[in-house]
Amino acid sequence: MRDTIRFALNGRPLAVDGVPSHTTLLQWLRADGLTATKEGCAEGDCGACTVLLGTPADGTLDWRAVNACLVLLPQVDGRAVVTAEGLAAADGTPHPVQSALAEAHATQCGYCSPGFTMALAALAQRPERDDTAILDAIAGNLCRCTGYRPIVEAARNLPQVDAPAADASLAARLSEWSSEGLAYSAGAGRFLAPVTLAEALRLRAAHPDAWVWAGGTDLGLRVTKRLEVPGTVLFLGRVAELRGLRESAEGLEIGAAVPYADALAALTDLAPAVGDLVRRIGAAQVRNMGTLAGNIATASPIGDSLPPLIALGATIDLASPAGRRTVAAEDFVTGYRQTVLRSDELIVAIRIPRPAPGTRVAAYKIAKRIDQDISTVSAAFALRVEAGRVTAMRVAFGGVAARPLRATVTEAVLLGKPWTADTVAAAKAAVAADISPMSDFRGSADYRRLVAANLLDRLYLETTESTAPARLEAL
Ligand SMILES: Cc1cc2nc3c(=O)[nH]c(=O)nc-3n(C[C@H](O)[C@H](O)[C@H](O)COP(=O)(O)OP(=O)(O)OC[C@H]3O[C@@H](n4cnc5c(N)ncnc54)[C@H](O)[C@@H]3O)c2cc1C
Ligand code: FES
Ligand code: FES
Repeated sequence: MRDTIRFALNGRPLAVDGVPSHTTLLQWLRADGLTATKEGCAEGDCGACTVLLGTPADGTLDWRAVNACLVLLPQVDGRAVVTAEGLAAADGTPHPVQSALAEAHATQCGYCSPGFTMALAALAQRPERDDTAILDAIAGNLCRCTGYRPIVEAARNLPQVDAPAADASLAARLSEWSSEGLAYSAGAGRFLAPVTLAEALRLRAAHPDAWVWAGGTDLGLRVTKRLEVPGTVLFLGRVAELRGLRESAEGLEIGAAVPYADALAALTDLAPAVGDLVRRIGAAQVRNMGTLAGNIATASPIGDSLPPLIALGATIDLASPAGRRTVAAEDFVTGYRQTVLRSDELIVAIRIPRPAPGTRVAAYKIAKRIDQDISTVSAAFALRVEAGRVTAMRVAFGGVAARPLRATVTEAVLLGKPWTADTVAAAKAAVAADISPMSDFRGSADYRRLVAANLLDRLYLETTESTAPARLEAL
C-alpha cells in the first residue's frame, strides 16, 4: 500500500505527507493559502466550502460538488480537486459560471459566493437545466442576505460547460493512484484505504476500533463538531466490490460504497416515491458522498432510508472474515443507535426486491423545510389492493421510537380488509400501539403520534378517487 497522499489540485499533481490524517480538505486548502473556500458551518449545511471533486471513471473524471468541510484530506487521494481559484482559464478568462453570476448581479458577499459558484460549476456540466435541477444544485448553499433570485437567474443563463480539463497523462495517473491501496499515517492517526473487500475485512478484524468511513457525512461531524480525533480510519470508498450497483428483474443490489447520487436513478425506477425521498436527503453535496449503508449503520431514529427499505422488504448483506449473512432491514437496528453489526463485520450491500405488480409504494418525509432538513416523522407504505381489499401491506415509521420500525399491529388491522375510510380510521387508531415517540425540539410526542397516523389518511387520499387534497400545495 502507498503511504503518501497523491491527488491533483486545480490541475496540478501533488504529493502530501506529514499532515494529520483527520485534517479536512477544507482545513488543508485554507492552510495552503487557498482561502476562497470558506468555512461557514463545518457541518455540511451551508455550502460555503463547496469544491469540485473529480473521481476517475471510464478513462475520464466524474466531477461532483462536495462539502470540503466533511471530506478528510486522505479521502481525495487518487482524485482531482478544483476550488474557486482554479475555475478561470489559465489566461484569466472567467469561467462561464463566474461570468453568468457577475452579469446577473448575483454576488454580494465573498462568503457564500465561492460555494454557489462551485455548486453551479457542477450543474453547468450537466444537460439538465430546468428550475428543478437548478434548485437541487443550490439547495445545499445558504445565502444569508437573500440573494437567491439573481443566483437562480444566473443559473438559467448558464451555457453547457465542458468538465474542467485534466490532461490525459494526469487523468491516467489519477486512475492509477486510485486503483492502489493507501496506508497513510501521520502522528497518532492512520487512514487505511483498501481496494479489495478481502483486504477491507482483514483490516476491519485487525482494527476493531477503526472508524469505518464511507461518505463521511455523519462521521465527519464527529471530527469537525465534537472535535474527536480518530485513531484509525478504514475508508471503504475505494473497495471495488462495494461500488457496484446491479439492477435485475428481481430488484436492486446497491453496494455499500455507492453514494446516493449514483443510486438515485435506479431507486426512482424501482419506486418513484423512494427516489423523491432520497432527493430530500441533505443536498447535492451530501448525496454526492453519503451512502445508504452509512445511513443504515448510523441507526438514527430519524434516518430517512430505513422506513422505505423496511416497507419494500429490503435485506442487508453483511460480511466478516468468518463469512456472510443477510439481515432483514427491519431487524438491523436493535435499539437507539444500536445494530446487529459485529465489530468485525461490514455492510456489503443492500438488496431491494422489485415491488410486485400493482403495489403502491409511498414514502413521506415530514420536516420543517423541503430541502436540507432532517425528518421529524417519516413513513413508508407498500400497499396492494385487489378487488377492493388490502392483500398486502407493509408499514414503516421513522422518528416515532428509538429506532425506525415496522408497524406490525397497524399492518394486521389493514390486511384482508376493504380499502375504505373506515378501515383507515381503524388502522390510525392502531398506530399508537406500534410507536413510542418522544418530545424534542423538532416536535412533541403528541404531534408525532398525530402525524404518523394522519399519513395513513394521506396514503388513502392518494390511492383513491377522493377529491380531497392530499397535500397542502394542492389547495
Ligand atoms: C448537511 C447534512 C444533511 C443531512 N441530511 C440528512 C437527511 O435529510 N436524512 C438523513 O437520513 N440523513 C441526513 N444526513 C446524514 C447523513 O448524510 C446520512 O446518514 C448518510 O447516509 C451517511 O452516509 P455516509 O456514507 O456519509 O456515512 P459515514 O459518515 O461514512 O458513516 C456513518 C456510519 O456508518 C458506518 N458505516 C458506513 N459504511 C459502513 C459499512 N459498509 N459497514 C459498516 N458500517 C458502515 C460508519 O462507521 C458510521 O458509524 C445529513 C448529513 C448532513 C451533513
Ligand atoms: S462549511 Fe458549511 S457546508 Fe462546509
Ligand atoms: S451573497 Fe453572501 S450571504 Fe448572500
